[in-house]
This record gives sequence, C-alpha cells and structure tokens, in this order.
Amino acid sequence: SAAEKGGYASFMLKEIAEQPKAVTDTLLGRIDPEGTLHLDEVRITRGELREVDKVVIVACGTAYHAGMIAKYAIEHWTRIPCETELASEFRYRDPILDPHTLVVAISQSGETMDTLMALRHAREQGAKVLAICNTNGSTIPRESDAVLYTHAGPEVAVASTKAFLTQLVACYLVALYLGQVRGTKWGDEIRTVIRQLSEISGSVERVLETMEPVRELARSLASHDTVLFLGRHVGFPVALEGALKLKELAYMHAEGFAAGELKHGPIALIEDGVPVVVVVPSPAGRSVLHGKIVSNIQEIRARGARTVVIAEEGDEEVVPYADHLIRIPATPTLLQPLVATVPLQVFACELATARGNEVDQPRNLAKSVTVE
Ligand code: AGP
Repeated sequence: SAAEKGGYASFMLKEIAEQPKAVTDTLLGRIDPEGTLHLDEVRITRGELREVDKVVIVACGTAYHAGMIAKYAIEHWTRIPCETELASEFRYRDPILDPHTLVVAISQSGETMDTLMALRHAREQGAKVLAICNTNGSTIPRESDAVLYTHAGPEVAVASTKAFLTQLVACYLVALYLGQVRGTKWGDEIRTVIRQLSEISGSVERVLETMEPVRELARSLASHDTVLFLGRHVGFPVALEGALKLKELAYMHAEGFAAGELKHGPIALIEDGVPVVVVVPSPAGRSVLHGKIVSNIQEIRARGARTVVIAEEGDEEVVPYADHLIRIPATPTLLQPLVATVPLQVFACELATARGNEVDQPRNLAKSVTVE
C-alpha cells in the first residue's frame, strides 16, 4: 500500500533513500570509540581466525558483486588469499577446502538455494562457514558456523539496493576484523579506515541529495537499446552491479566491463551515441589506475561514445571528457563502492520508470530464488 511505501512511489525508491540509515545500523555497536572492532557475535574464535589460510566467498547476483569487492579488501588488509565465486558454480568443480578455509556466504534473504548448497558442500569438506545475511533466523545463517547480520531492515523491492550497501559494510568489517585479529603491516591503515567507515553514511546521504541530474539523464536515455558500464579495481564490480540493475529493471541490454579489458574486445561495441557509464577511481596520488581510466574515457569518446562519468569531487582531469559528470564525495579507495553504486541504482530505477516498467516487481524475477 501507499502507506507502506512511506510516501515514495515504490519500495525501491524508499529503500534507496534508507541507505544512510541502513549503513549506520549495520555499523552500530560494532566499533568502539577507540576505533577497534568488536565482532564477538561472530562465533569463530580468534584462534581459529588466526589459522585461516584461505577465504572463499560464495553468493549470487548482487550479493556476488559485494563478494567481488570484498576480495580486494580482504587480500589487501589481511594478506590472506581470497577468491569469490558464484555459488551456482562452486560445488560443481570440486573446490579445494579444508578446516583452515573460511567460507563467507553472502545472502540478503538467507534462502537462496545455490548459496545454501554451496555452504553445505563447504561444511561437508570441513571448512568453517560465516554467513553475511539480512534475514534473522533464515536457513543460511541457521546452517552456518557463524553469522554477521546486516541491519538493512526488510527489503521488499526485488532489485537489491540497501541490502547491497550493508553487505559491503559487513564485508569491510570482516576484512578489517581479520586484519585486526591477525595483525598485519596495515595496522595503522586499518584503524584509519575503521574511522572513515564509521563516517561514510554522511557521504551516502550527500550522494542522495544530488541525484536530480542523474534522473534527468536517465529519462533522456529511455529510448536507447544498450548501456555499457566500465570500472577498474573495486569499480569493476560496481560496473557489473550497475549493469545488473539496468537489466533487471529497465530490460535493456547492459554490460559491465573491466576497463583494462576494453582493447581485448569490448571496444568493438562502441559506436556513435552509445552511452557508457565509467566509474572513475580516486584521482592520482591515491590510485595509479586513475590515469589509465582517463585514457579509456578518451579512447571511447573518440569512437563516438556518450560518456557518463562518475568521479570524485575535486577530480578535474576527467572534466574535458565527460559528456555527463556525476560527482561523488572523495572516499578511501576500497570504500568507494559505497558511494559510487548509489547513482547507478537511481539511474536504473528512473530509466525503468521512464520505460513504463514496474520497478518493484520486474518481469520473470523473484525476490529470493529458492530453487537451483
Ligand atoms: C538483486 O537485485 C537481485 N534481485 C538478485 O541478484 C539477488 O541479489 C540474488 O538473487 C541473491 O539473493 P540473496 O542475497 O537473497 O541470496
């Protein structure tokens, strides 16, 4: 009903707007004033966590994109090898697992069959399973060794938004906690990032306040057939997520690419007028990839692409090559997905609406996929 949507036209719009609070709620009680993480609720002992020699993340869809981003964070802050795999592929390839493997299963609903089967397989091989889940008492946390709940509140719209942002927060918490427990050379950085994470919801709020031009742009693209998305490093999964949202909601051909792969094939897709959304990493000094992606933007623009550039405030280098510029607050490199994803959600939602689609209930999709 209209009342349940709290005055918004759809649950999706309501859930997008709830993201600053969802992020805050997921951090609540887990960081002390000294900037130390407390995740005692994760019932895997510190001793066991110190012995972990491999992390494997399994998930589907949007949760898989959160897991892809987690890999960058976990390997950087903990120096433990980490792989992220689609839950539906995982158990069919005889993966290498043992009691020193930490498997992280990410699921909003806690009922996704592919993810459940993957974690059952992992436990049969003796691996420890930590669930990151938004639904209290659902099957996936019940069958796991430990759970870290996201506190996004109920997510009604089929397209995941606030659950994704809180999954990211939970993944960062796991990465930082593992780093904290094990002690790595990144100790100082870990403490700094914990503080930055505790302030990030303000940045999400700021993004939401500046979305009108994004909505306008989305409406202007309603009659297009294709939108491409490019990113690098943690911006690559963000590009995949932007494309997934557009497929689900606008029923458009949308693809995300790692920008470094452009010349290995995808650049052949660029023709006059094709909109390409580019997620730009932090400017030079903080990310060596910045200059590389600026060249990519020039390359595709020279071939006719209409460039939609998502870049941090203060990044002036991208300005000459952006047909449309979407600003996001400056953010530590690994945390950027928390702000960079938000415009892509708004973009997909508005484009779908402009095409006359029902955003809360896209065709052919279910909120949780309980069959394989
Ligand atoms: C997201 O917009 C999708 N509807 C879908 O990809 C979803 O993230 C996936 O099915 C996983 O669901 P879960 O998080 O409930 O396991």
